[in-house]
Amino acid sequence: MTTERFRVDGEVAIVTGSSSGIGRAIAERFAADGVDVVVCSREQGNVDPVAEGIEESDAPGDALAVECDVTDREAVDALVEATVEEFGGLDVLVNNAGASFMANFDDISPNGWETIVDINLTGTYHCTNAAGEHLKEGGGIVVNLSSVAGVQGAPYMSHYAAAKSGVNALTSSLAFEWAPEGVRVNCIAPGFVATEGVEDQMGVSAEEVDRETVDRRMGTVEEIADLAQFLASPASSYLVGETIEAAGKPAIMEEPTA
Ligand SMILES: NC(=O)c1ccc[n+]([C@@H]2O[C@H](COP(=O)([O-])OP(=O)(O)OC[C@H]3O[C@@H](n4cnc5c(N)ncnc54)[C@H](OP(=O)(O)O)[C@@H]3O)[C@@H](O)[C@H]2O)c1
Repeated sequence: MTTERFRVDGEVAIVTGSSSGIGRAIAERFAADGVDVVVCSREQGNVDPVAEGIEESDAPGDALAVECDVTDREAVDALVEATVEEFGGLDVLVNNAGASFMANFDDISPNGWETIVDINLTGTYHCTNAAGEHLKEGGGIVVNLSSVAGVQGAPYMSHYAAAKSGVNALTSSLAFEWAPEGVRVNCIAPGFVATEGVEDQMGVSAEEVDRETVDRRMGTVEEIADLAQFLASPASSYLVGETIEAAGKPAIMEEPTA
């Protein structure tokens, strides 16, 4: 009974940006929980192996791989259509697709700024806006992925932090509008999580970040999938419009000696 409340509340989910990292872990977790998942990213060749892996595993959920750039509204509309056609509806949307690069604010070009805001914020708008009609049919759930950068800021990532802060504001604002329609919108703001994306963004390997940049261990994709599963389950039924930071705590002081 208790465990049942922690199962994903729905039969069909889209997880954007699920060819790798956190998105892949969430898609695999949802499928293991019996949910039919649509895995999508900008490259069909990147998502096919993820969907095949789910299909070949013991996971009771099915998987469909769809190529979709979340910044392209036509592609997003086609993604939602393909989902409903294949699985008959849509219950959970995880807006995970995201990207960044590190740069001094002075060096961020208008194009660089637009690219990061488009992927992280406008992409979240496109997917949520396109999926709304279906999510409202069955009391759906939206889980957004932002970042601690969007809560407390981050040096050399002002474009990304601003976009993720926008995702947090979108989460809390939309939650007001959609709660009366039975759709819960919440958000996860991770700290450093060991993924390929971190390596690309920070220009260092996950091991180096762990050892030299932050005095704490990195999170794992499974820990973020745990939280996504919770937010997509009835166990979080009283959470609406929240952004939950999942960032561990830095070891800032040595324990005093007597
Ligand atoms: N890892 C961290 O430390 C961390 C911390 C805070 C927040 N986050 C957030 O958590 C989410 C996942 O991060 P991650 O580290 O797992 O990232 P990742 O390993 O770089 O994966 C990003 C995913 O997004 C896809 N993607 C990128 N641009 C896209 C676009 N325009 N349309 C559709 N898909 C796109 C990529 O696939 P293709 O290349 O195949 O398109 C990939 O599947 C992101 O929103 C990120 O900002 C991560």
